[in-house]
Amino acid sequence: MTGRHAAPTPAPPRPVDTGGAVLGCQDLHKTYRRGREHVHALRGVTLTVHPGEVVALVGRSGSGKTTLLNCLLGWETPDTGTTTLTDQTNDTGTRWEQVAVVPQRFGLLEEITLLDNVALPARLAGHPDPTTAATEMLTALGLGDLTDRAPSEVSLGQAQRTALARALVVRPAYLVADEPTGRLDDETTTHVLGVLRDLCATTGTGALIASHDTTTITHADRVLHMNDGRLEETRADAR
Ligand SMILES: Nc1ncnc2c1ncn2[C@@H]1O[C@H](COP(=O)(O)OP(=O)(O)O)[C@@H](O)[C@H]1O
Ligand SMILES: [Mg+2]
Repeated sequence: MTGRHAAPTPAPPRPVDTGGAVLGCQDLHKTYRRGREHVHALRGVTLTVHPGEVVALVGRSGSGKTTLLNCLLGWETPDTGTTTLTDQTNDTGTRWEQVAVVPQRFGLLEEITLLDNVALPARLAGHPDPTTAATEMLTALGLGDLTDRAPSEVSLGQAQRTALARALVVRPAYLVADEPTGRLDDETTTHVLGVLRDLCATTGTGALIASHDTTTITHADRVLHMNDGRLEETRADAR
């Protein structure tokens, strides 16, 4: 009975209100100059992240992943090329409900609890019950027992998951995460990516995840390989 039936098609994600935002870029080039040395971090990168899909951006250290994410977020300016989100960014910056970020160094507020870290963007976004939303997201990511701790009182892996919870709590149109599982063991990575995929499929969040672990690659809908500033796509059936 092999090959006679097509694999069931997953239900299409519920359309989200992206506020007109599309996450993508066209022909990005970026060169860092240090004295006489030129580093071509991006050499013509074009991509689009669609609603509901989890895209893994993989590549060796130094291949340009962080530079690409930073340009997409408007944190760095490319030499040439366009990014679709920053075109729409106004003086107040991009809103977290449009694009939520998990930075490589987490960026948690040290003086407040994990719960308050996660509740904060929900509160700013006008969520009717930020505390419950934050508790649910932390619990989904396996941190339900640690909500009262400060970031300095948990492991790096737990802090990393808190940063992911903080990004997801607002149900963003897009999620950009720089190595969000780099501090997690394989089992936890699998759990976290399962939560992420389910959430993306139900809310329509489009996720772009820079990573170099194979677990992330296995769980992605699409894999983009970064190699010396250039992108190559791997079709899911080629893996
Ligand atoms: N601010 C900077 N100044 C000079 N070179 C940089 C800077 N940021 C990144 N680079 C260089 O650009 C290349 C791409 O870096 P990066 O985007 O951080 O790669 P990745 O995230 O894949 O490890 C590397 O060679 C790195 O050393
Ligand atoms: Mg990086």
